[in-house]
Amino acid sequence: MKQHINDLICKSINTIDAEQSIDAAILSRIKVERCKDRAHGDFACNAAMILAKSLKKSPRDVAAALIASIPSNDRISKVEIAGPGFINFFVNQDFIAKNLEAMGADPRLGVKICPQKENVVVDYSAPNVAKEMAVHHIRSTVIGDAVVRVLEFLGHNVIRANHIGDWGTQFGMLIAYLEKAENEQGSGMDLSDFEAFYRMAKKCYDDDPVFAEKARNYVVKLQGGDPYCRKMWKKLVNMTMEQNQKLYDRLDVTLTDKDIMGESLYNDMLPVIVQDLIDRKIAVEDNGAIVVFLPQFKNKEGQPLGNIIRKSDGGYLYTTTDIACIKYRVDTLHANRILYFTDSRQQQHHEITWAICRKAGYVPESVSLEHCPFGMMLGKNGKPFKTRSGDTVKLRDLLDEAENRVTQMLLDRGSNLEDQDRANVIHNIAIGAVKYADLSKNRNTDYIFDWDLMLSFEGNTAPYLQYAYSRIRSIFRKATIQPGHIVISDSAEEELAGKLLAFPEAVESVAVKSMPNLLCNYLYELSNLFMRFYEQCPILKDGVDPSIQQSRLALCDLTSKVLKQGLGLLGINVMEQM
Ligand code: ARG
Repeated sequence: MKQHINDLICKSINTIDAEQSIDAAILSRIKVERCKDRAHGDFACNAAMILAKSLKKSPRDVAAALIASIPSNDRISKVEIAGPGFINFFVNQDFIAKNLEAMGADPRLGVKICPQKENVVVDYSAPNVAKEMAVHHIRSTVIGDAVVRVLEFLGHNVIRANHIGDWGTQFGMLIAYLEKAENEQGSGMDLSDFEAFYRMAKKCYDDDPVFAEKARNYVVKLQGGDPYCRKMWKKLVNMTMEQNQKLYDRLDVTLTDKDIMGESLYNDMLPVIVQDLIDRKIAVEDNGAIVVFLPQFKNKEGQPLGNIIRKSDGGYLYTTTDIACIKYRVDTLHANRILYFTDSRQQQHHEITWAICRKAGYVPESVSLEHCPFGMMLGKNGKPFKTRSGDTVKLRDLLDEAENRVTQMLLDRGSNLEDQDRANVIHNIAIGAVKYADLSKNRNTDYIFDWDLMLSFEGNTAPYLQYAYSRIRSIFRKATIQPGHIVISDSAEEELAGKLLAFPEAVESVAVKSMPNLLCNYLYELSNLFMRFYEQCPILKDGVDPSIQQSRLALCDLTSKVLKQGLGLLGINVMEQM
């Protein structure tokens, strides 16, 4: 509809400005937006205000001229001037009804496959080996996965890149400790507690000089490709990722072991890249280290910031790996767009890495590099989210607690589901609530983790949306007639209809901005409008005309489909009954 109104306005501008005197830059500022208050129209356009200066007329006069030249068409019932010179469009209700019917018959619910298919690399989750997934990894995992689903739904070729931290000098110590633990406990040992594993390895390293010597020796051997050290290293990586995979599955996150592209993948490229940057005078030697100076980044003294890509001891850094990684994504994966879901504190790291890559010509201008940052997860006290004793919260424990709380909630509500259904409902509500709490906030800001809010059946929560869905499905279990033709007669129907038709825009906005909260907000508003419609417009009550019943059932049906599809794109399940 927006596009259609845009076309109408363009035609009208061409009529009143036949010699095309208006600058393209000015025309590009013309926008069509959905009106906030539907009493004033469905869509508003700012064209008259934008053009007034160039045409040397008042905005209202321009608006009048534009309206007079809008080609007649059946999608619009009325056009009006509003306020300082907005042009407001009223949509033809019959036309809406037809569109809704078409949307209901379309398995994609009106969401078009994007005509410009892109190769999008989505860098998300990226936990570190032999470490418990930390809070920022949950955010990255859940938000990144929702964006992946949306991009795929729009027809893009998505490459999930799980850039795990699987390399570094700490591996000597970890291998030495793994060896020690295996010798002492046999191969059946339980290393599921990585926190403890890491702590103990570090303790041995600090307290036992023989152990420390062995650990240092193992780092060198590992880097030199020694088969034993490689094997032990691989064991650590596999153990970690097996545990993380359980969490991905439990969270209904689409990552698998095929998506692992860890830091170690780029090892062989690092010396080649550093040499290339030296040869081309992009990098220089500085006190034994190899450094890239970028004039656009200044240090505290106002001097160009030196970015080390190889330390004086020959070691490479997080930045060096990320430079190689980008090159690989461009040259080998043929990425057109690369999205990084990392916490906002990594912003400068990415900017520096990208600046080096652009300067070196490793990334053509046409490839878009986008940081999709997110804020911290805070406790109710406004401080970083921790356990009562001040430890990081393990994701596994967090999910257990969510399920325990939902189990109790269902007991309190006296739900009478069968055991199998109940287990399923508990899982879907608990996981849905935790994910949605994260997804529904503007990711740029910190967010407060609050069990009571996220598990509430009221407000912008997953349980509220899941409940709206189940409630609609229950109508169909009672109905004796089928959904039929749509006729919009009541204002609540009209508003619900307008919202339903905006579904494709909501989905597309997530792909453009990498912000799932836009879809969450949409679904929440949709559910609110549905609830209003449901209160205001009787469906199965005696005395309601069957044709109206059929129309309202069709609106119910379409709403449930949009909720299911929309939540599905966020990685959240719905249930027929809950
Ligand atoms: N492993 C990193 C961390 O735990 C995140 C990696 C993000 N991706 C990247 N290409 N730098 O913070």
